[in-house]
Amino acid sequence: MNKLEKFAAMKTYENVFEPKIERTFYQEGGGKHVLEDLMARVGERRLCLELGCGRGEYTVALAREDKTTFYVGVDIKGARMYTGATEAIETGVENCAFLRTRIELIDVFFPEESVDEVWITFPDPQMSNARKRLTSTYFMKRYARFLKKGARVHLKTDSNFLFTYTCEMLKANGIEALAKTSDLYGEEEREDLPRSLRTIQTAYEKQWLSRGLTIKYLSFVAPVGADALEEPNVEIELDAYRSYGKTQNSTLKKHA
Ligand SMILES: C[S@@+](CC[C@H](N)C(=O)[O-])C[C@H]1O[C@@H](n2cnc3c(N)ncnc32)[C@H](O)[C@@H]1O
Repeated sequence: MNKLEKFAAMKTYENVFEPKIERTFYQEGGGKHVLEDLMARVGERRLCLELGCGRGEYTVALAREDKTTFYVGVDIKGARMYTGATEAIETGVENCAFLRTRIELIDVFFPEESVDEVWITFPDPQMSNARKRLTSTYFMKRYARFLKKGARVHLKTDSNFLFTYTCEMLKANGIEALAKTSDLYGEEEREDLPRSLRTIQTAYEKQWLSRGLTIKYLSFVAPVGADALEEPNVEIELDAYRSYGKTQNSTLKKHA
């Protein structure tokens, strides 16, 4: 199936939300546009987001295992998201959905204090621009607009740069990590780490593993009152296997 056919199929899917208001929000400088249809489907359940979900491996697999929570995969690339949305429909996983949007706009779609948990799976480390890092204080401020108090953020990454940066971001703001490992598969199984770290592998994770890279994980309680957060002021060694120039070509330029 080509991309256009996937996009056409997704228009008929009840588990895909593609709000058309992004331009308006950029122009008018903000405002809430809560997705009432989506929130009605969440109902009384807990709500968990997977940001930069790609094919949505975590969204679908976690939803299958935990019916008390509603999972929403968020990504700008519809053709990737099609894989997870189709799998959820074909295998009867009803407690998940996909939201196609830029994560820069994510806070307009969810009410205050509505989200319990966030997974960020193998995000682009954005080594040249902290403002685009999904674990930066800029994004933490956005997330604070919809997270519940005590909401947990999970980061799973191959990138030593992003892992170190996120640890430094926590340190700069006096936030303790709840759990972390710099080599998930190099260690014995640990009780303080979510079991899903080993049972669910994403498309990017498999690629990085096949290249012999180690997988890192970090979780923490998202800061509330995040307006006072400070960016870390430290030099971090760049990932050698990524082209520094290439990371400047933001994925946002390619909306496929
Ligand atoms: C490296 S891929 C990882 C995909 C998936 N989580 C995995 O592990 O296979 C990063 C994903 O984040 C999405 N992404 C990056 N920045 C984004 C943004 N600002 N808004 C929406 N999606 C974004 C990209 O489209 C891409 O699918």
